Amino acid sequence: MENIDWGHLSFGYNKTNYNTRCYFRNGKWGKIEVSSSEIINIHIAATCLHYGQEAFEGLKAFQGKDGRVRVFRWEENAKRMQSSAKGIRMAEVPGALFKEMVWKTIALNREFVPPYGTGAALYIRPLLIGTGAEIGVKPATEYMFMIFVTPVGPYFKEGMKPVDMLISREYDRAAPLGTGNIKVGGNYAGSLNAIQSAHDHSFANVVFLDAKEKKYIDECGPANFFGVKNNTYITPKSDSILPSITNKSLITLAEDMGIKVERRKVPVEELETFEEAGACGTAAVISPVKSIYDPATRKTYTFYQDQAGPVSQELYNRLTAIQLGDMEDKYGWVEFVD
Ligand SMILES: Cc1ncc(COP(=O)(O)O)c(C=O)c1O
Repeated sequence: MENIDWGHLSFGYNKTNYNTRCYFRNGKWGKIEVSSSEIINIHIAATCLHYGQEAFEGLKAFQGKDGRVRVFRWEENAKRMQSSAKGIRMAEVPGALFKEMVWKTIALNREFVPPYGTGAALYIRPLLIGTGAEIGVKPATEYMFMIFVTPVGPYFKEGMKPVDMLISREYDRAAPLGTGNIKVGGNYAGSLNAIQSAHDHSFANVVFLDAKEKKYIDECGPANFFGVKNNTYITPKSDSILPSITNKSLITLAEDMGIKVERRKVPVEELETFEEAGACGTAAVISPVKSIYDPATRKTYTFYQDQAGPVSQELYNRLTAIQLGDMEDKYGWVEFVD
């Protein structure tokens, strides 16, 4: 391993030593295999390539002050991956196999877990694909589950930086009864034009609305949305958003802080009344939002400008402190790898 400049790692792919793989054939999962290759070999007619049988997850491991490695809420990711598999008729990965592969992949790449205090973490990417060859539109009978890890730098290098968002009026991310609530590749392909269009207009990301009525906020690019007003944390309830594990955790922490929580439809006009707004997900924990522009009304909704609002900041501090082992983990969210 070359010397890694932990403090300047990007939030991107950095090569590690090994990944793990497991194959589903003849109705059962086989033995875990270890590979040092970043390449996979699959059939030209594999269903993942043609019919989008692909689901993935994203979670992180952190090194605490004590030098021990902690994984944050892996069981939630394992469950969500099962729900994704069900949603596109793939073989489900049992929780025990998911855990064993996460643990093994971290152990094999132990030296890539960023040290405490660098702001960096080890990002874990489980991936499930249909590998069986089919030409008709139907589920494969063979699957491959793999995990790779990569050290990633902090999302915000100089502290949390509020961003500008654009409401997507030209593109939807997911259909009302579609696959928006599971983590499958097709949703991300479907969001690329919207994200590019936001970038072209100098926005950090997009806010998707509900595809049916175009009245309510769904989510923000690859993150859930929340707003704060009158000591209340408000986050959209929708069948077409991905249930974020970060959001779920922030809700628990907000309640701990004596903040009321509402999970309900959030009409676009309500943005006017929010004191704080944020996007939450594994990558950044919280991305504070400083403005949201709606091209339909040409209205810009604004929130805290130069820094995160006090509730967002406190939620961020608490969640990251639990992840790093700096604060009591009273809900049992972290599990030690070593
Ligand atoms: C579409 C979408 N929404 C929300 C999230 C946030 O989920 P989590 O907090 O589990 O990372 C993600 C990232 O996984 C995502 O891709």
